[in-house]
Amino acid sequence: MSAAESADVFHRARGRTLDAFSPEKEREWKGPFYFVQGADTQFGLMKAWSTGNCDTGGDEWGQEIRLTEQAVEAINKLSPKPKFFVLCGDLVHAMPGTPWRKEQTRDLQHVLKAVDQDIPLVLVSGNHDLGNAPTAETVEEFRQTWGDDYFSFWVGGVLFLVLNSQLLYDASRCPALKQAQDRWLDQQLSIAGQKQCRHAVVFQHIPLFLHSIDEDDDYFNLTKTVRKELVDKLTRAGVRAVFSGHYHRNAGGTYQNLDMVVSSAIGCQLGQDTHGLRVVAITADKIVHRYYSLDELSRGAVEADLKELLKE
Ligand SMILES: [Fe+2]
Repeated sequence: MSAAESADVFHRARGRTLDAFSPEKEREWKGPFYFVQGADTQFGLMKAWSTGNCDTGGDEWGQEIRLTEQAVEAINKLSPKPKFFVLCGDLVHAMPGTPWRKEQTRDLQHVLKAVDQDIPLVLVSGNHDLGNAPTAETVEEFRQTWGDDYFSFWVGGVLFLVLNSQLLYDASRCPALKQAQDRWLDQQLSIAGQKQCRHAVVFQHIPLFLHSIDEDDDYFNLTKTVRKELVDKLTRAGVRAVFSGHYHRNAGGTYQNLDMVVSSAIGCQLGQDTHGLRVVAITADKIVHRYYSLDELSRGAVEADLKELLKE
């Protein structure tokens, strides 16, 4: 695929928003709706994991292609259609500057091209997309390939914020970018804090925490200091839910009124969960969600539940 062709595949986030949604029309609450969340397509990890070489392995990704195709086909069949499909990072496995990255990216873009044009894609950056310690160059590469690394958009009266969690994980090589995201986030949260939206929801790759606000730091969460500072900002502004990936297992917990949701992967599982997606329903008062295996989705299990999920 040439660069020109791939440029037409998605509505990339630009200018810190998504042009798929009109900010004027979407500011108002019009009743319950739902969207689909996935994470960690991570083309290449299944092979790398099976060989025990996660740093430079990952020279095959046929399984991930099939799983992501199954996800896309199931999403396209949903009725009513979800408002959007958000992929919470680790789109591909190969880190910046490592072998197979171009090929994995090309193949994922090819699969995502099949997503129904009426279901906008929302793409979130993960550690494998940007590198564990991102730089101005890796962030710029992501922006060229997939769109802005942080942005916001409105859907039906709900304010959605997409964060670059690598800037919260390790910004030692790009401190100015972290400061810019922090300033932008404060601005966005002041909109939410003034109750101009029905709900505010955050998407990021790395969870704030996996189970509880006081858990120890590890590879799969943000450090206690960063986590507490951010969670306080979010809860003060009234953010109700944060959806993430990264863990390749389902997990989560609550802190005050905030639901921290950790969704397992479309691709490689590191625990006992199934390859799957989360369906998230937003009503006037609630945000409810359920994780479905790809097979359940393909069998039409979501339709049966949607009525109940979208009940006010
Ligand atoms: Fe991952």
